[in-house]
Amino acid sequence: MTYSRAKALLQQYGQTQVLEYYDELNAGQQSALLSQIENIDFSNLAPGGEQTMPLGELSPVPALSCADVERDKERYVAEGLKAIRSGKVAAVLLAGGQGTRLGSDKPKGMFNMGLSRELSIFACQFINIKKVTDMAGVCFHIFVMTSVLNHDDTAAFFKENDFFGYPSDKIHFFVQEMAPNCDICGKLLLESKWKISSSPNGNGGWYSSLVKGGFGALLEDEGIEWLNVYSVDNVLQRICDPVFVGATIESGCNCSSKVVKKVSPEERVGVLCMQNGQPSIVEYYEMPPEKAALRRPDGELVFAYGVTLNYLFRVELLNKTLAKKLPVHRSLKIIPYMSEGRLVIPQEPNGYKSELLVLDMIKFMGSCLAVEVVRESEFAPVKNRTGADSVETARTLLQKNGVRL
Ligand code: UTP
Repeated sequence: MTYSRAKALLQQYGQTQVLEYYDELNAGQQSALLSQIENIDFSNLAPGGEQTMPLGELSPVPALSCADVERDKERYVAEGLKAIRSGKVAAVLLAGGQGTRLGSDKPKGMFNMGLSRELSIFACQFINIKKVTDMAGVCFHIFVMTSVLNHDDTAAFFKENDFFGYPSDKIHFFVQEMAPNCDICGKLLLESKWKISSSPNGNGGWYSSLVKGGFGALLEDEGIEWLNVYSVDNVLQRICDPVFVGATIESGCNCSSKVVKKVSPEERVGVLCMQNGQPSIVEYYEMPPEKAALRRPDGELVFAYGVTLNYLFRVELLNKTLAKKLPVHRSLKIIPYMSEGRLVIPQEPNGYKSELLVLDMIKFMGSCLAVEVVRESEFAPVKNRTGADSVETARTLLQKNGVRL
């Protein structure tokens, strides 16, 4: 992109401040800045704040409770193993997040959960993966999403750890895209004189990044029909769990989510439900308290199931979502920025990070099954250092599940 085209574009969107230092830059820096400008989707930049949509009609989603799963477990396992053995299932690890709440300068998956030995979060997840591959007698493909901020560290860590005993030709890395950061008025910020401040674009762009990363052909060639997408930060995460795979295939649904029963109406977890006839995840802050508190005659919550960030998606349907636009979510953050030629690190949140969220993909799937799991055996999120959903709580749960720390 030429300087004059970039300037015209920026003028159109009121963003010319990013050219403030242009005349001071060398040729390489100028062209780096112009190419960033060229790649920005300006239609996604809105003047701050999360845009809330009306909730509409909410109703419960089809669900298998733990008791339902237990009753038909054998059949589901057989069906799930059949699909895994025939190569129809692969996994996608979402590991591109910044883990700011955990406050480690390394990728979250490298965080050591061990007390008397090294046991990274990645290693914890591979313990569970091995249980499935031992049972199935085959290894499935695992796609690992990183971001430009943590890719090198992540890939090096996998290598240093001998891919956690997994065949390295079945592990594929791809890098997610970045999204520009804005101040609270929606103005783009610079992190250096020639670099627009940006952050990983959220976990919702995973499928388009996977395809852009060149793996669409592999999915097709290998006949992969289902992708099990999971977050890096649940140390009890069960990946390509045959029960889950089998139950989903048998249901005929196009996607499914492992869910936990909410401990109280107020629990801060996104709820899987039907919204205006489509499956949807309603975030805890969007759910009106009176709806969250609704109970069935048997005393159970009507909107009972919180998502654990472990989904199965039918690939055929994912391909149809590529042309669709996910909503952009904005979260208030501390964003360092250039001012008067120097980098300012604010003490308080000063701008917005823009993210696409995987939970918004559920709406495009047409049908979704909730599969309840036992919280204490499968849900140990590591979001914070201490307190709720922390290293401390996750370590306790790992120990309860027999993992030596
Ligand atoms: P979180 O929403 O907890 O975000 O991610 P985070 O970046 O890890 O942590 P905080 O909010 O900064 O403390 C849930 C899952 O989505 C992945 C994360 O790696 C985690 O597995 N994720 C998140 C991405 O892969 N990319 C992103 O841009 C954001």
